[in-house]
Amino acid sequence: MNLWGGRFKDKINRSFLDFSASIEFDYKLAEHDVNCTKAWTISLAAAGIISELELEEITNGLYAVAEEIKTNSFEFMPGDEDIHTAVERRLVEIVGPAGGKIRTGRSRNDQVATDLRLFTMEQLNDIDYGLRALIEALLDKAENLMGVIIPGHTHLQHAQPVLLSHLLMAFVHMIMRDRKRVKNAYIHTDCMPLGSGALAGTGIEIDRMQLAGQLGFERVSENSIDAVSDRDFVGDTLYTLSMIMVHLSRLAEQVILWCSQEFAMVRLADAWATGSSLMPQKKNPDAAELVRGKTGRVVGSLMSILTVMKGLPLSYNRDLQEDKEGLFDAIETVLGCLHVIERTVDTMEFDRERAAQLVAGGFITATDLADYLVGKGIEFPQAHRIAGEIVVYCLDKGKELKDLALREFKPFSELFEEDVGQWLDVEASLCRRNMIGGTDPVEVSKSIKAARDALERKSESL
Ligand code: ARG
Repeated sequence: MNLWGGRFKDKINRSFLDFSASIEFDYKLAEHDVNCTKAWTISLAAAGIISELELEEITNGLYAVAEEIKTNSFEFMPGDEDIHTAVERRLVEIVGPAGGKIRTGRSRNDQVATDLRLFTMEQLNDIDYGLRALIEALLDKAENLMGVIIPGHTHLQHAQPVLLSHLLMAFVHMIMRDRKRVKNAYIHTDCMPLGSGALAGTGIEIDRMQLAGQLGFERVSENSIDAVSDRDFVGDTLYTLSMIMVHLSRLAEQVILWCSQEFAMVRLADAWATGSSLMPQKKNPDAAELVRGKTGRVVGSLMSILTVMKGLPLSYNRDLQEDKEGLFDAIETVLGCLHVIERTVDTMEFDRERAAQLVAGGFITATDLADYLVGKGIEFPQAHRIAGEIVVYCLDKGKELKDLALREFKPFSELFEEDVGQWLDVEASLCRRNMIGGTDPVEVSKSIKAARDALERKSESL
C-alpha cells in the first residue's frame, strides 16, 4: 500500500521504491509515530471529524499496534515506504477503513517533523544521563587521587607541576559545558510542528496547545511553512554531539598517552583493554582509540545535515529524509562512547610512584625559579633569562634544579638565598597558584565539591 495512489496510472518502479523508502531506518520512530497519531485522533474527535465510537476503535487499534512494536511482532510489508505508511496500513488492517481517517488534516510532513522531535528529546535525555555518569566517574577519580602531582604539559613537553585531580577536573568542566549544550538543543527541539499540515496549516479546527501538552511539548511552531522544513534542531543536536565527541576524544587521547610505556602512568583494567594477535606482551587501549576514531562519523553527520539544508527551497522537500540516518547513528555512537569511556576511566589504575618519578625531572619548576627572582625585585624578563641559564647549567652537570646547592645558584644571581630550595618544592609551587581556577589543592577541592553539588542539583531530567 502507498498513501498517494489516486493520481497515478502506473505502479511505482520497484527499484525506485527501494531507493526512496525510509522504512529501513525510520522504523526507529515507530513508538513516537503511534503516540503522535493517538493524540491527533483525539483532536479529530474533538473537531467532530470522527465519532466517539471511532475514536475508541482507532485508539484501541493504535494500542494494539504499539504492543506489536514493543514486542517486536510488528510485521513490515514490502509496500511500507516509511513508518507512517506502515502504522496506517496496520491500523486499517486492525480496525477497518475508519482507521484511514487518522490522515485527515495531517501530512507526513508535519508528522515526521513531530516524530523526529519527540525521538530527539527522548534521546537527549539519555545522552544527558550518560554525561552525568561520566562526570561522576571523573569526580570519583579526582577525589581518590587528590594530592597526586603530575607534570602538566604544553606542546606535550613538561611545563609546570599540576594536581592530577586538576587535570581530571578539566575534563569535568568540558562535560559540564556539554550538558548545557544538551539542554539548549532540547529547548530548541521542544516545539511541536503538528497542525502545520503539508505546509499551509490544517483546515481542521484543533487546539494545538492542547495537542502539544498531550505530546509533552512546551511550545508549538508559529509558522507552518518553517515548521515542516525546519531541521535546525537536528543541526543543534549534531553540533552538541560533535562537541561531546571532541571532548571524549581528547579524554581518550589522554588515556592512550598515559597507557604508553613512555608515560606509563595508567594501567587499564583487563576487561577494558585488548591484546595483540601477534605480540603476546601487548595490552592495547582499543576502547579509547575507538572513541577517538568514532568522532569522525559524528562530525560527518553534522556536516551532512548542514549540507542537506543549505539552499533548500521552502518548504518540505524529500531531501529532508536525509536528516535521520546521521542523527540516529550519531546518537547511538555517542551513547556507546559515553559508556565505554566512563567504564575505562572508572576502572583504570593510576601509578602514583610513576607520577612522583616524572614530576621530579624535567625542570618542572623553572617558572617558579624565575618567579623567585621576581619576588627578590628583578624584572621578569631578566629573571626568565637567569632561570634559563641555570637550566643549561643543570643540563651540563646532569642535575635537576632541586639538586643544586645555594653556592651553585649564587654565580647566577646574588639574590639567591637559602629559601630557594623550599621555593622550588613542587607542592609549594602548587599552593602558590591559589587563585580561582588554579591548581592549589584547596582550590581544586573546592572545584570538585562545586561540580558535585551542581551534579546533584541538576540530576533531574532535561
Ligand atoms: N520519509 C519521509 C521523510 O522522512 C516522510 C515524509 C514524506 N513526505 C512526503 N511529502 N513525501 O521525510
